[in-house]
Amino acid sequence: MNDPNGLVYYEGEYHLFYQYNPFGNTWGHMSWGHAVSSDLVHWKHLPLALLEADGVMIFSGSAVVDWKNTTGLGKNGKPPMVAIYTCYRPSDRMQSQCIAFSNDKGRTWTKYAANPVIDIHSANFRDPKVQWYEPGKHWIMTVSLSAEHKVRFYSSTNLKDWTLLSEFGPAGGTAGVWECPDLFQLPVEGTQERRWVLVVNINPGSIAGGSGGQYFIGQFDGTRFVEDPGSRPSVAGGGQAALWLDYGPDYYAAVSWNDISRSDGRRLWLGWMSNWQYGQDVPTSPWRSAMSIPREVGLRQTAEGIRLVQRPARENQRLREKRFQFKGGDLARANEWLTQNHIQGALELVVEFEHESTGVQGVEVLKSPKGKTVIGVNWDRKTVFVDRTNSANVNFNPKFSGVYDAPLTAPGRKVNLHVFVDASSVEVFVNDGEPVLTAISFPSGESREVKLFGPRDRAKISVLDVWNLKSSWK
Ligand code: FRU
Repeated sequence: MNDPNGLVYYEGEYHLFYQYNPFGNTWGHMSWGHAVSSDLVHWKHLPLALLEADGVMIFSGSAVVDWKNTTGLGKNGKPPMVAIYTCYRPSDRMQSQCIAFSNDKGRTWTKYAANPVIDIHSANFRDPKVQWYEPGKHWIMTVSLSAEHKVRFYSSTNLKDWTLLSEFGPAGGTAGVWECPDLFQLPVEGTQERRWVLVVNINPGSIAGGSGGQYFIGQFDGTRFVEDPGSRPSVAGGGQAALWLDYGPDYYAAVSWNDISRSDGRRLWLGWMSNWQYGQDVPTSPWRSAMSIPREVGLRQTAEGIRLVQRPARENQRLREKRFQFKGGDLARANEWLTQNHIQGALELVVEFEHESTGVQGVEVLKSPKGKTVIGVNWDRKTVFVDRTNSANVNFNPKFSGVYDAPLTAPGRKVNLHVFVDASSVEVFVNDGEPVLTAISFPSGESREVKLFGPRDRAKISVLDVWNLKSSWK
């Protein structure tokens, strides 16, 4: 599989559709796979939702609940679920926007007879994200003109007839095609302010190489997205750099859930934990690729401006099993404690490092005699990094091995790392959600140990908290 698609919440179920090849474990025959969950962490696989047919693949897109039955496709007084996706015709490479609807909570789907609903005769026009825009009482579609590094906004009152509103871009990262956009409004934590966030994935040319996500902060008035001036870091020689969602190599095509209830109010999302540079080659079988854990998105005012923050959705705590809490002490003592408690396997770990003026300090995970994945703070460079160069199985693709750096937003302070380690992935949330690094990693051997390291054995470790995680499939 690749991108998450059609994330929507309806009648107690979180739906997760995704790009899926029913006939093999490399890209092809793109169709929408389907899973549902009542709690975001335990998932039930359902039959394929939308299948490639008549020479048309089902590319990425979104799903909405058409509460007001604007499409007229509802049944028995119940709103239809409508999927809006890219129809891709390999024969002439054309991409257009199509819709399909379901009257049984996404279990079975009917493609709309008059598809496509938008066709501009383009080979690079894809990944529509649709949402209801309440102030204007109409639907908004955010969709990418991939090769032109632009996002287009369309409006509709019935999901069938669409009017072009405006375009945004090129801007920010433009080294690769623009894909899988998203648009949402969020409060700035601790203030009365709100901002719109426009998310644009790019491939290749992202911060960690290959595929990755960037975002823009600004205003959206129902017609046009206007970026806040100066909201991105400036670069030497003028101009502005991009803002990155994740500094690791494996967080792509993240899109957020539609129709999360107002009383919940969270903006939740997840991403494809891989990268087109090597995604077809990762050494797993018979499956290939996984999604990240679900995350909650927010905005925080920092010294450098407003930044997107991501935290593990609180539902992830349901997988916590036994908790191990270090009483405090130095690094050497903390390592004895990790060994004594046989800390290993799938786990959630919180560790805090006191500020140091120099050196490299961190935690090795998925550690065996054959290799390890290193998560560290480089106090000299003022970065947090993930290093998988010695992570056992790195040779399946020359682009896989690497060290990935993220800047520390507040480099003068202690650093808190909140880490999720699964069988073949690490997700690192630094300083309560910014920056974030996600990387897959393929350990070998039986052991999956954890060890702290640093220049000083006497370095004080005041917070070290670990939970064994249960399988989400049991
Ligand atoms: C992104 C992407 C999308 C496209 C889909 C095809 O990973 O290339 O732009 O819709 O994957 O599988």
